[in-house]
Amino acid sequence: DLPSFVKIVEVGPRDGLQNEKGNVPTSVKIQLIHKLVAAGLSVVEATSFVSPKWVPQLADAKEVLKGIHQVPDVRYPVLTPNLRGFEAAVAAGAKEIAVFASASESFSKSNINCTIEESLVRYRGVTAAAKKHGLLIRGYVSCVIGCPVEGAIDPSKVAYVAKELYDMGCSEISLGDTIGVGTPGSVVDMLEAVISSVPVDKIAVHFHDTYGQALANILVSLQMGISIVDSSVSGLGGCPYAKGATGNVATEDVVYMLHGLGIETNVDLNKLMEAGDYISKHLGRPLGSRTAAALRKL
Ligand code: HMG
Ligand code: MG
Repeated sequence: DLPSFVKIVEVGPRDGLQNEKGNVPTSVKIQLIHKLVAAGLSVVEATSFVSPKWVPQLADAKEVLKGIHQVPDVRYPVLTPNLRGFEAAVAAGAKEIAVFASASESFSKSNINCTIEESLVRYRGVTAAAKKHGLLIRGYVSCVIGCPVEGAIDPSKVAYVAKELYDMGCSEISLGDTIGVGTPGSVVDMLEAVISSVPVDKIAVHFHDTYGQALANILVSLQMGISIVDSSVSGLGGCPYAKGATGNVATEDVVYMLHGLGIETNVDLNKLMEAGDYISKHLGRPLGSRTAAALRKL
């Protein structure tokens, strides 16, 4: 049975833009977030309070978060890798944070410069502080299928990290196929392992479309009871520490598939496409969504 409603978590302003080489003005990021919310998205990941040495594009995190008009009932999570980022996020008005661990030891090292266990210790501190402030917490596990260095990742490793994040207070666990190598078979194996340790309604899937498998992977995830899907408008993105990884699955394509299946999202596809046009024009890119490209030709 497929869910009747899927919550889409739009990650374009963060995951989508973090790897952009040219400087994207703060005002463009703010406008993009406003357009995404206007399209009906109820969760828009806004930015990251990470080291600007590691992710220069998001050095304006404070200005972005302070600059957006937060609409009641819309969530604007921001990534916080440590207490320093957490405190900066709270000072800028964050009501939800996200911590991001990895199922791959090598990727943990290259992305956040510590081991998986060290990251979990650090995140226990961050999540304890967040709970004290009454903030919502999202937890990411990256490299849930494969890692650029280690190759295939054991599903039990993913389940372990997901459970740790859940136990420390993350109310939603997003499983990231960071380099997009998953196919429906490996995704089902991984989800079976995670669903046995974390409630299925707390699990989100986060696919990158490197090998064109993202929609198929989302469909099998829905069939397994998942009803939260991360995606990025116009398929923006890529990861600075995962060479060759292309963008997230395009939100427009996800919405087109879900609506075709009779699944509600509350997202207005036309307005979403306007947000996609806006950022694609700004970046000088062709539309990264097949759905948007097709509908724009009609
Ligand atoms: P480090 O170098 O080990 O730590 O970085 P450090 O404490 O030595 O800090 C280095 C410098 O950054 C210092 O500055 C700190 O003060 C500063 P310096 O003294 O040299 O001038 N610093 C900070 N500045 C601002 N905000 C902060 C902060 N913390 C330290 N919060 C660290 C460790 C975790 C900070 C670093 O590795 C980092 O920021 N990593 C983030 C990388 C990142 O954002 N990657 C992309 C997101 S994850 C992802 O894409 C996967 C996901 O999308 C899911 C999927 O696709 O699968 C979620
Ligand atoms: Mg990602």
